[in-house]
Amino acid sequence: MASPDHTKGSALTGEGTAAAAAAGEGPGNGAQFDISVAHVARIYDYWLGGKDNYAVDRAAGDAALAAYPDLVSSVRSNRAFLARVVRYLVNEAGIRQFLDIGTGIPTASNTHEVAQDAAPDSRIVYVDNDQTVLAHARALLTSSPEGATDYIDSDLRETSTILARAADTLDFSRPVAIIMMAVLHLVPDADDPYAIVSTLVEAVPSGSYLALSHIASDIETQALTEARTRVGQFMPQQQTYRTHAEVAAFFDGMDLVDPGVERVQHWRPGSELDTKRPAALWGGVARKP
Ligand SMILES: C[S@@+](CC[C@H](N)C(=O)[O-])C[C@H]1O[C@@H](n2cnc3c(N)ncnc32)[C@H](O)[C@@H]1O
Repeated sequence: MASPDHTKGSALTGEGTAAAAAAGEGPGNGAQFDISVAHVARIYDYWLGGKDNYAVDRAAGDAALAAYPDLVSSVRSNRAFLARVVRYLVNEAGIRQFLDIGTGIPTASNTHEVAQDAAPDSRIVYVDNDQTVLAHARALLTSSPEGATDYIDSDLRETSTILARAADTLDFSRPVAIIMMAVLHLVPDADDPYAIVSTLVEAVPSGSYLALSHIASDIETQALTEARTRVGQFMPQQQTYRTHAEVAAFFDGMDLVDPGVERVQHWRPGSELDTKRPAALWGGVARKP
């Protein structure tokens, strides 16, 4: 079984963020964490080889890995996809503003690092609703002097709050790339994820982009269904995996960038290594006409 590589660590180290919060570090100072149940951001951190996770997160992560060993490869492919997408948006689409929703615990190649490496004047607003991510948000606020970064602690379903607060940093009269990587599977159909995405896309002008990845329900279905069931025994937040057609529907009314909605490892791969990392996520990028 592939296991997470803990030699790399995340942007911040230590036994989880309770220690960081207790030490009075960062904007999460004083935040309370429930470490009796697993959290998706911390499980994902574990799979990425980070250190901001607890025993319950590792137990959930290991249970899922036993059912679908390519999970570690999947999350790394997803991060590599994010970096390629951001580089594409900056270098080929000329985007300088990003709204990254469902950010995750800071790790290597966060959106602002990739964007500002290519264009230092890039402006990035991050959104997440997890206390662990909040506690480490300072690692996301290390902007280049020419650009800007901000962090909004919000549920992505609160679109009006997000858009109002993001306007402090982003100019919504100019193109914005909305990034939603590996987060929409955490929004059940009952909460209408399509309406949430539409509301966000409606708020940005023509020439803006939507980029997202989503765990597939039609790749490795049996193994992934079992992995989801196992993780579900450790955390209350349930997951909805979606088919290629269901993921493509998030881009309705927009112009998909080649090669369309693809497995993330096959979306404009930068190297043979990119294509060789198996991943059970669909990903795509589209321009608002
Ligand atoms: C699987 S991680 C993906 C992280 C990052 N986007 C990536 O692709 O590497 C999902 C992230 O979405 C966040 N998230 C889940 N549900 C959310 C919600 N309703 N509102 C805001 N963030 C949410 C989690 O806290 C977690 O940090």
